[in-house]
Amino acid sequence: MELLGDPLRLAMAFRTEYRVIEIGSIRVHACVPDHINDRHAASIPCGCSSLLGPGPALGPGPALGSGPGAGPGPVSLGDGKALSCLSRPEFSQGPDVQDDSSSLIPMRPANSPNAFDLRRVGSHPDYWYALAWSDELRPGKTLARRFAGEPIVLYRGKGGRVFALEDRCAHRQVPLHLGVVCDDQIKCHYHGWLYDGSGKCVEIPYLGKERLPNGVRAYPACEVDGLIFVFPGDVALAEARKPKSLGLSQRKDYKTRRLNREVACHYTFMHENLFDMNHQFMHRKQMGSIKARCIGRKHGDDWAQVEYTFSRTEGKPSMGEQVIVDLVRKRGEAGKKDFSDHMRIRTDYPTQNLRVWVGRDIQETQDPVLDVWLNYTPLDAEQRTNRTYGYLSVKKPPIPGLIHVVWPFVTWFTERIFAEDKEIVEFEQAAYDAQGSDWNNEVFPAIRDLRAVLARCGKPITP
Ligand code: FES
Ligand SMILES: [Fe+2]
Repeated sequence: MELLGDPLRLAMAFRTEYRVIEIGSIRVHACVPDHINDRHAASIPCGCSSLLGPGPALGPGPALGSGPGAGPGPVSLGDGKALSCLSRPEFSQGPDVQDDSSSLIPMRPANSPNAFDLRRVGSHPDYWYALAWSDELRPGKTLARRFAGEPIVLYRGKGGRVFALEDRCAHRQVPLHLGVVCDDQIKCHYHGWLYDGSGKCVEIPYLGKERLPNGVRAYPACEVDGLIFVFPGDVALAEARKPKSLGLSQRKDYKTRRLNREVACHYTFMHENLFDMNHQFMHRKQMGSIKARCIGRKHGDDWAQVEYTFSRTEGKPSMGEQVIVDLVRKRGEAGKKDFSDHMRIRTDYPTQNLRVWVGRDIQETQDPVLDVWLNYTPLDAEQRTNRTYGYLSVKKPPIPGLIHVVWPFVTWFTERIFAEDKEIVEFEQAAYDAQGSDWNNEVFPAIRDLRAVLARCGKPITP
């Protein structure tokens, strides 16, 4: 997605030293071997595509990538034990990555019989999805939004509370967002039927309150850290799954910017794009020649995580990057040979988080220099378009005011990278639309982990 390059760019901007790091001799490449690219080659069964086939494969069975040759053995469940330390030994290129590399085995092409089409898996409605920024909705006003084709009106009562209703009047089906907010209720623009925040029709002006029809559907709504969320699924699950905070966006020692863009692709392309740092080649004009190395991956029923380190293979940082790095470098020269980059990207269904650490002997408790939180809300019924809401938070350097000096560069970089990512994922969607199914040949184990999570946790899109 938009931020693929941003984290590295920003990490470079805010570290005290940049250093080329070589870890091990094994690299994970995103290149597709010829025999895999040949979609007419005989299908060779493996633990990947078959696990994601129709029927039971969508259930809570073995996770993709947990089979032989696909990674570090049993699936890890839960977050707490994911990684206790970020120091080099924990993430050195060890047997796990050997396994990752060896799992570059022939896979059944996705368009072959029984192959799984991830683009036909919808975002599961039993989670909270962002539909608007809090400051877009003033008291007494409405907003027309959608979740996967469902029209939803958001309105803010005079007292400040946000409500979400089906955006159609039960009478003549016209949009309720055209209506008038009356305290915590909304009155249809056409004949003035009045609905309360639970969607119940409480008054028909020309009939009174005696014979009232059924109302409209109401959705749980809440506001967290400046975003308005709606829960489109089973109401009984809403409270327990309410987001507590959105990345580090509220921390005073970070400077945060919003990410907000409509992207014409299935949300799964966004997940894959962020997760897969092997596409840094595409950002070469912004980033120079950067090589990402996968140094670990983990996954569970509803989450997947991948870790990278980076090195510059040739060329120099771009002018913008140099400006920022030079500014930040002034904060200290000591120990500059022992710094490294460490990036962790994690999908906790249905959101994503990316964090970057720099420095030496990095510990789990250490603040990342960069934190990105992302939500993808499907807009249309076929989920071929999503709106990305997110926060990008950068740890403020110790020099007072420096962050504000470099912020225009941060903004410029992130917008450029976002534009490149948006363009390419929309090409992916266009290819999918032209071909009519998912022909992807995924060879990178971390992405296969991720695809399994998205398949398991999502809900098939019904025509
Ligand atoms: S259409 Fe809404 S009140 Fe008639
Ligand atoms: Fe990217």
